[in-house]
Amino acid sequence: MKAVRIHRFGDADVLRVEDVEMPQPVDDEVLVRVTAASLNPVDTKIRTSGGRFKKEADLPVAMGRDLCGRIEALGTRAHNMLSEGQRLFAMIGFDRGAWADYAVLRATEMAAVPDRLSDEEAAAVPLAGLTAWQGLVDHGGVAAGQRVLIHGGSGGVGHFAVQIAKALGAEVFATASGDGVEFVRSLGADHVIDHRAQRFEDDAANVDVVLDLIGGDTQQRSWDVLAPGGIIVSTLTPPKPQAGQGDDGRRGVDFIVDPKGVDLLKIAAMIEDGVVIPHVQESFALADVAAAARRMEGGTIRGKLVIRVGGEGAA
Ligand SMILES: NC(=O)c1ccc[n+]([C@@H]2O[C@H](COP(=O)([O-])OP(=O)(O)OC[C@H]3O[C@@H](n4cnc5c(N)ncnc54)[C@H](OP(=O)(O)O)[C@@H]3O)[C@@H](O)[C@H]2O)c1
Repeated sequence: MKAVRIHRFGDADVLRVEDVEMPQPVDDEVLVRVTAASLNPVDTKIRTSGGRFKKEADLPVAMGRDLCGRIEALGTRAHNMLSEGQRLFAMIGFDRGAWADYAVLRATEMAAVPDRLSDEEAAAVPLAGLTAWQGLVDHGGVAAGQRVLIHGGSGGVGHFAVQIAKALGAEVFATASGDGVEFVRSLGADHVIDHRAQRFEDDAANVDVVLDLIGGDTQQRSWDVLAPGGIIVSTLTPPKPQAGQGDDGRRGVDFIVDPKGVDLLKIAAMIEDGVVIPHVQESFALADVAAAARRMEGGTIRGKLVIRVGGEGAA
């Protein structure tokens, strides 16, 4: 089978589509024939330096976290409600790669794909959707009526976060720029702030939960818009208040997304209800993975980039 791997860290040219051995499902695992996968910033971090997840000694590294596929084979103890041909989506662990013809899924990672999604839309959901869900619900504790500020509302995580926060009944503030402003408005945000034209502090105040997808100065300035008892939830770095910024019970946490199929089920239910819709900006054939990676690094992506696996245009 074909799979995208890297043998050294570097620019997009280190991505290779090569022949590798088919993985085999054991116990409660399933083997899926991958039909679509998606890109995330973590793929760029791993490819360029390994990030916090891979070291030189781990090379060659199989690339890609998110996929949609159909069950090809079941492990000997795979749950009897699963059947060959069934459509699943998942964020898979760093020990495997999703940019491949086939992948093994663990029982705890996967969920059935909502009927209304195409395979490409489904592949866009797992990592970014789970990050948005866990950031808002598990770490932020967002409740109806609260004010939520999402930094980076037009990107992969942000476009899910805006929709999920609205579905939870929050009043949503979100930052974006360029045509991202209209995009985020179309997702249902109540207040959209163009971060290139305006300081978010001028529009957002008394915020209960800040979802920080940007870090740095944006994160630091967020302390000043937090309500007493409010929280900054960051996907980047631990938020640390400077003098006077962490009073009144204001606090900050950072977290790493947990690839939990049970949370994917909750997002799937919101998708079934039509309140969350994944947005695929562009899709690429597996053979063009380097072009997809360069596009990812170019920025200004509204929603997600997807890789088509198998069929026409595959390597
Ligand atoms: N800890 C974890 O487990 C975890 C999980 C997922 C993601 N992450 C990290 O979280 C970050 C966001 O992920 P993502 O997938 O959403 O990335 P993304 O798709 O690249 O989106 C990021 C968005 O941020 C916006 N942006 C850039 N500079 C900004 C600024 N100064 N203020 C406000 N918005 C700004 C851009 O939108 P505009 O063009 O509209 O400005 C861009 O589309 C990445 O660094 C990623 O590595 C961490």
